[in-house]
Amino acid sequence: MTYKDYLQVLKEHTPYDFSEYSDNSINRRIQKVMQDHKLTIQELEARTLTDKRFLEEVVEAITVNTTEFFRDPELWRFLLNKHLLTYQNNGVVNIWHAGCSTGQEVYSLMILLGELGLLDKARIYATDISQNALDIAKKGIYHHQIERGCIDSFTEVFKDQKRGEQIFFKYFDVDARADIISVKDFLKGNIRFMRHDLVKHDLPFFNKMDIVFCRNVLIYFNARLQSRIVQRFFDVLFSKGTLILGAHEGLSGFFKTKFERMGPVYKKNNLFHFRC
Ligand SMILES: C[S@@+](CC[C@H](N)C(=O)[O-])C[C@H]1O[C@@H](n2cnc3c(N)ncnc32)[C@H](O)[C@@H]1O
Repeated sequence: MTYKDYLQVLKEHTPYDFSEYSDNSINRRIQKVMQDHKLTIQELEARTLTDKRFLEEVVEAITVNTTEFFRDPELWRFLLNKHLLTYQNNGVVNIWHAGCSTGQEVYSLMILLGELGLLDKARIYATDISQNALDIAKKGIYHHQIERGCIDSFTEVFKDQKRGEQIFFKYFDVDARADIISVKDFLKGNIRFMRHDLVKHDLPFFNKMDIVFCRNVLIYFNARLQSRIVQRFFDVLFSKGTLILGAHEGLSGFFKTKFERMGPVYKKNNLFHFRC
């Protein structure tokens, strides 16, 4: 039995389908689960099918949750100083973070919206396949040690604002001794964190979106699955809606004509859907 056979078993007998995740990375992670639990691939299969908790553990191991506040500061500077200002006359701004992991990306955005006076207009849908990641995201409490780099990125993003430190403490409580950095409650108001599998589930909302973030997720999918998911983003975005991918991700083929690149983001090109 190969790891591809194992993925096929998961597809047929569990709610998860990783059969179109890109080869190398998923193979490596399955190998790691086998090593950690001292299992052959046949034993891995048997245990996955009989032990629901273990299945969830495998899902956590297969999906990569790495994230950070203000990852790729240039993007956040662009959003703060240019892009988000274009929503100032909107009544509501609908935003979907697909693959939000433990929430740092979502709270980074909320801080920018807070600074631009857009917090009350924002309706944020933040989804991920990983329940563990979502539980952490909802709490908004992180290790100070691990997030120290976030302060540097934060300073970089707000370097034109000149009151970086003041802004920082408006949104975070920091207890360095207890190794805790926590997001203040008022930032969490308009966010709905929901479990959602981009591969298997229908959309978890009916609204059209102004902005879709899906950063550092498509990179784990093969080209065919990437196209399917980008098509869904295209469909859910308003005309002129914005798609935001990771720094090392891009659109290829057909989708290059459907979106227009604007700095670090993509604008939907379709003129036939109007915002309503
Ligand atoms: C590397 S993290 C990226 C987090 C964040 N977007 C960022 O760029 O910092 C990838 C996230 O995608 C999620 N993910 C992987 N496969 C998924 C799927 N099929 N549906 C929804 N989320 C998925 C993982 O659980 C993980 O939290």
